[in-house]
Amino acid sequence: MKGVILAGGLGTRLLPLTRVTNKHLLPVYDKPMIYYPIECLVKAGIQDIMVVTGGEHAGDFLKLLGNGKAFGLRELHYTYQEGEGGIADALRLAEDFVDRDKIVVMLGDNIIEKNICKAVGSFFTQQRGGKILLKQVDDPQRFGVADIDGDSVVGIEEKPAKPKTNYAVIGIYMYDAQVFEIIRTLKPSGRGELEITDVNNAYIAQGTMTYEILDGWWTDAGTFESLHRAGVLVASGGANHLDGESKAATAAGVGAL
Ligand code: G1P
Repeated sequence: MKGVILAGGLGTRLLPLTRVTNKHLLPVYDKPMIYYPIECLVKAGIQDIMVVTGGEHAGDFLKLLGNGKAFGLRELHYTYQEGEGGIADALRLAEDFVDRDKIVVMLGDNIIEKNICKAVGSFFTQQRGGKILLKQVDDPQRFGVADIDGDSVVGIEEKPAKPKTNYAVIGIYMYDAQVFEIIRTLKPSGRGELEITDVNNAYIAQGTMTYEILDGWWTDAGTFESLHRAGVLVASGGANHLDGESKAATAAGVGAL
């Protein structure tokens, strides 16, 4: 399995912090934001990662991350998104890198307390389709919101004014190689972007989308409020320990298969 981290965008919700740098290079407590998704994937046993970035400061990712050796990575790849086409448009750029493998996609501003080892392990054995991770939140209208019925997810609405549930779809998505065919069928949304929610709804329509509820805290960090919360949560513990489960995932070689 391979990992793709989406770290483009203009970060306009964080101006002026993002005037002279990319959002994902801003500090979250004691590390640049982009470290957290990289560490999360590494902890889940993923060894080949591509960072998709864009904008004027893309070169700074290379300065900061180099060849990924500091994270114990076998490979760290980069690609460049021109313009603001949305999350699914950014993912499209990773198609050659992914090369028909299964992938874990993580938004570069998402930070979790624990790890995704169990979900990645179960997706590894899932024959086809996708898997999303959900977390109950107080402000679901800020996110993609999942409607669930027992073990199945029946639909996702992107930033609904009246959410049907409080299950936010967090920015960690697992897909089979079919995802790139799905992206090719998408039309831009009202905000002119190819939406990841439309990708997920296509898998749901096929009946091949599974879900799990994330254990531990989760936050994004794309607004002043959530960036501040991310710093406070990280400072209070979690988000960077190589625990027993992660070591087992690395040993099991999830990324190598
Ligand atoms: C994006 C997705 C949304 C998801 C969120 C998680 O929103 O569109 O479905 O719940 O990430 O962080 P954005 O942060 O681009 O507004």
